[in-house]
Amino acid sequence: MEPFRTIIEPFRIHAVEPIRMTTRDERVEAIELAGRNLFAVHATDVMVDLLTDSGTGAMSRDQWAAIQHGDESYAGSPSWFAFLDAVTELWPFCHVIPTHQGRAAEKILFSVIGGPGKVIPNNTHFDTTRANVEATGAEAVDLVIAEGRDPSAIHPFKGNMDVVALEGLLAARAADVPVVFVTITNNSGGGQPVSLENLRAVRAVCDRFGVPLFLDACRFAENAWFIKTREPGQADRSIPDIVREMASLAHGMTMSAKKDGLANIGGWLAMNDDHLAAACRNLLILTEGFPTYGGLAGRDLEAIAQGLREVVAEDYLQYRIRSTAYLGDALHAAGVPLVRPFGGHAIYLDARALLPQIPPLQYPGQALAIALYVEGGIRGCEIGTVMFGRHPDGSEGPAAMDLVRLAIPRRTYTQSHIDYVIEVVQRVAERATDLRGLRMVQPEPPSLRHFTARFEPIA
Ligand code: F0G
Repeated sequence: MEPFRTIIEPFRIHAVEPIRMTTRDERVEAIELAGRNLFAVHATDVMVDLLTDSGTGAMSRDQWAAIQHGDESYAGSPSWFAFLDAVTELWPFCHVIPTHQGRAAEKILFSVIGGPGKVIPNNTHFDTTRANVEATGAEAVDLVIAEGRDPSAIHPFKGNMDVVALEGLLAARAADVPVVFVTITNNSGGGQPVSLENLRAVRAVCDRFGVPLFLDACRFAENAWFIKTREPGQADRSIPDIVREMASLAHGMTMSAKKDGLANIGGWLAMNDDHLAAACRNLLILTEGFPTYGGLAGRDLEAIAQGLREVVAEDYLQYRIRSTAYLGDALHAAGVPLVRPFGGHAIYLDARALLPQIPPLQYPGQALAIALYVEGGIRGCEIGTVMFGRHPDGSEGPAAMDLVRLAIPRRTYTQSHIDYVIEVVQRVAERATDLRGLRMVQPEPPSLRHFTARFEPIA
């Protein structure tokens, strides 16, 4: 018999948070007050908050119970060992260094191995990763396959690294490359997965040039689900088994537990190299905390340990990936241009295709994100020329794509919230020709400008 079509959430709701209903007039006022930057809008003025899937998920009953076991001892807390066991069950690296979130792990690692003259390739660096690389004076290079730069190209693993391009870079400059990174899933490129086959090929090239391979593993469980369901020969493997194979192909990782840790805060840095780990721990102590808690409370370590057990459950992942695709399928059927195939954690609207009247340097993604907020109180996130258009040399140019990401917090919204989002996006898309571009109020912020910039409409 055919399986049922309706995706039921594999949980019941046990505590609810109210959503304040707002009017269009209230939202017009709120967005103007915020300088047309959605990061400056108060969360209580948002009805469906799809700004990020980071730290915004709902924790389970068992995570809240685990929090009660949090032991706040400064050194050697049992909560640290619970965390360490859960991490190494999936990622058996020799050294695990807890941090308060992913970018703290990046900051520590790149402070040790980055610096002027160095170059760090990735399939696509996320904003904080790129910023942390560049803050050391190193260069961040994106080497995703060509399909990964084309919003409408269909490929099962659009997050894959271009192995030939990587080989070319290493042949020319291996001595300047302290690490090769692969982001699973590739967030800036549409939440697209990376195959095991690609990871094996990247690892082989890294081995040939003696350069270590690290994973930016924030959404590893979603990536593993895509491997299980899309990669030949993987269907019968368990998710933890696939994760351990990803781990076996890398020399280390950075992690934000705010994504596939199912926690509201946390992260880690892990690796096999003893010398590198010692240097990183020294920095950790300087800025984050003692090595058995990093920047975290004991209770956070417990929440992450339990979250890691839940995130690899197949019922959860099936629901997660299918419910994201539910939003994408409906918008695609309505003719809204999107990044396809759909990523694991988000749907990415192609603002450049929807708003051809707005040139990239007038920020079509920002214009679309503002319209979704004003129309229906939905908060998405521009991932385009606002986020990536300013270069380290001070010049400005169009980003590879102008997208609006609708990121779906884990276990937080129901199908009717998503049905509402579908209606709002459709209504905005129907009136797309009315939207106009924006200019950034000068002077703009010196780095990571998308978080704090203010915008004015172009008449
Ligand atoms: N790497 C990737 C691929 C990410 O998506 C993020 C965060 C980080 C690193 C940094 O982790 O936030 O814990 O410091 N991404 C969030 C997002 C913020 O909205 O996509 P963090």
